[in-house]
Amino acid sequence: MNILIIGNGGREHAFAWKISQSPKCNKLFVAPGNAGTSLIATNVPIAVDDFRQLGSFCLEQTINLILVGPEVPLVKGIRDYFSADEKLKNILMVGPDKTGAQLEGSKDFSKQFMLRHNIPTAKAKTFFSNQSKEASLYLENLQPPFVLKADGLAAGKGVVISSSLNEAKLAVREMLEEKKFGKASAKVLIEEFLDGIELSVFVLTDGKDYVLLPEAKDYKRIGDGDTGPNTGGMGSVSPVPFADQTFMKKVEEKIVKPTVNGLKKENVEYKGFVFIGLMNVKGEPYVIEYNARMGDPETQSVMMRIKNDFVELLIACAMGELKNQKIEIDPSYVTTVVMAAGGYPDYYEKGKIISGLTNATTAQVFYAGTKRSGEEIITDGGRVLAVTAKGLSLREAKQNAYKAINEIQWEGKYFRKDIGDDLLS
Ligand code: AMP
Ligand code: GLY
Repeated sequence: MNILIIGNGGREHAFAWKISQSPKCNKLFVAPGNAGTSLIATNVPIAVDDFRQLGSFCLEQTINLILVGPEVPLVKGIRDYFSADEKLKNILMVGPDKTGAQLEGSKDFSKQFMLRHNIPTAKAKTFFSNQSKEASLYLENLQPPFVLKADGLAAGKGVVISSSLNEAKLAVREMLEEKKFGKASAKVLIEEFLDGIELSVFVLTDGKDYVLLPEAKDYKRIGDGDTGPNTGGMGSVSPVPFADQTFMKKVEEKIVKPTVNGLKKENVEYKGFVFIGLMNVKGEPYVIEYNARMGDPETQSVMMRIKNDFVELLIACAMGELKNQKIEIDPSYVTTVVMAAGGYPDYYEKGKIISGLTNATTAQVFYAGTKRSGEEIITDGGRVLAVTAKGLSLREAKQNAYKAINEIQWEGKYFRKDIGDDLLS
């Protein structure tokens, strides 16, 4: 099979790392890729949402299978574009169509979907751009903390959680009246606050059947002890001790099955990943959000624990044959620590030379915001590397990850020092 991965993050490097180990993989391309993917695959300089060029490239290189990494091309309808073209429609693709991707692309859509299918989630009310005053009044009758969500994609910045009524009212005004996120904040959801521990659950479905991939916990805040602003994700661990059999059974029965069955009932062609961000509230799972893709940096931890030939799973998904697949999971613990550019998620500099990569032997280093410059690898983004290590315990996995991090240097490198600590006790 000739395979094309779409995307350029640590997630896509982890996909490429796993896929390149499959005997079923012939040529592997990543569009646009990064310095890490260029070491194991061929990077193609085409943007993730340039469907016309991606289509031509697939024909030129006889691509047989496409794996879509990020949400933007899914929400813009990459599957619909390929299915509508006689020459492209037979290329296998892992990634839902435009309607399915609305699970991530519209929080109002996903909330209504959960309500229709009795899937446990936070209560919410949607307000439109002409209802800013109503939204303000509504807030006055709620208890803090207040949770506000822009309806559409807002690059991870669309959720505001505040204990201050004034701050919440200001945020509503900015979104609805001042269109802070453009079309994405033409609707805003005001949601009940869920108090608990978060978990990321990953489902690969062909629209009829599904396999459950290893779960993970993501560390979203920039600072140790979960402080400071939200980021794309500063680390992840898998497995997650509180996600024991009893809890995961509830997740499957109350959330995963109703989600897959709901999509089927609504005739949504969903061949791809459903990433369920959920909250464990006193032992009961509630959905916080759906994503139509895998998580970053959860994928890095998850790929290290899947023993299957990943290409076989992807083909089965795209062909609607997941019924015959069984997931095999490595019982090891995996910890991923993201190394970021100093200043991220605010202003940061690029172009710093990274050294010591070959000395980081206790971990697998997945590249994200990186670029090749002659013989050097230089920083080219906020999240630069994801350092992923295995161990027989969470403690050992953590030690191995941080040992590798100590070997890697660049001016201004930043990382959280406490990934997984909350799960150690
Ligand atoms: P999202 O962009 O939907 O992933 O939300 C970002 C983060 O906000 C989540 O990872 C949670 O930590 C938090 N969050 C979202 N919704 C809620 C909620 N209803 N209750 C508590 N925390 C929430
Ligand atoms: N790590 C969270 C995400 O990928 O959305």
